[in-house]
Amino acid sequence: MPETKIAPSILSADFAAMGAAVEKLERCGADLIHCDVMDGSFVPRITFGSQMVAAIRPHTKLPLDVHLMVVDPASKIKDFAEAGADYITVHAEACGERLAETLRYIRSLGVKCGAVISPDTPFAAAEGALELCDMFLVMSVYPGLGGQKFIERTLAKAEQAKNFILSHGLSCLVEIDGGVTVQNAARIAGAGVDVLVAGNAVFGAPDAAAAIAALRGGV
Ligand code: DX5
Ligand code: ZN
Repeated sequence: MPETKIAPSILSADFAAMGAAVEKLERCGADLIHCDVMDGSFVPRITFGSQMVAAIRPHTKLPLDVHLMVVDPASKIKDFAEAGADYITVHAEACGERLAETLRYIRSLGVKCGAVISPDTPFAAAEGALELCDMFLVMSVYPGLGGQKFIERTLAKAEQAKNFILSHGLSCLVEIDGGVTVQNAARIAGAGVDVLVAGNAVFGAPDAAAAIAALRGGV
């Protein structure tokens, strides 16, 4: 089984020193940089937009994994593609019937694409779009805030997704986001999750490199 990838979320970083934060994550062994974009409408808070993605782009060679928690994602995708995103993931709830079309649009811009489902959205809502995805993101907390508790029942959806991907011969990574800790990481990876997003577990740790290694199961 390939090693689990760790995608620290810069939502938990110092926003006044984001370039340095991203450089440090790369030195500490991160595999991707997870960028949580919130628009104040799809979720109550506002974080940052494509200018932040463009600003951190020169600070790392790691793939930028942009998680769009926004209303009408299709209208904002081009800006993030131009800013240097490597992955852009969009919520099934925000795309509605335009999910497949939106995923194709992301790919047409030369960016890897993914669908996201919130905790109350069933796997079936995105199943049909999985063949179009490079990444499938299962939210294990309600989108909007870092530092929440992992919602156990969401893990079954990650397992469903992995089984679907394997049984249909697709090459799509399964990612989980929210409440991942050093304590639950091995169990989550064991359910077939390829990419663990971690905010507090990395930024709240005294030693980010040790935390990333422990999340990956290397310690
Ligand atoms: C929540 C975000 C997550 C969150 C993860 O809306 O999508 O990426 O920041 O943070 P932790 O790991 O602290 O739960
Ligand atoms: Zn996220």
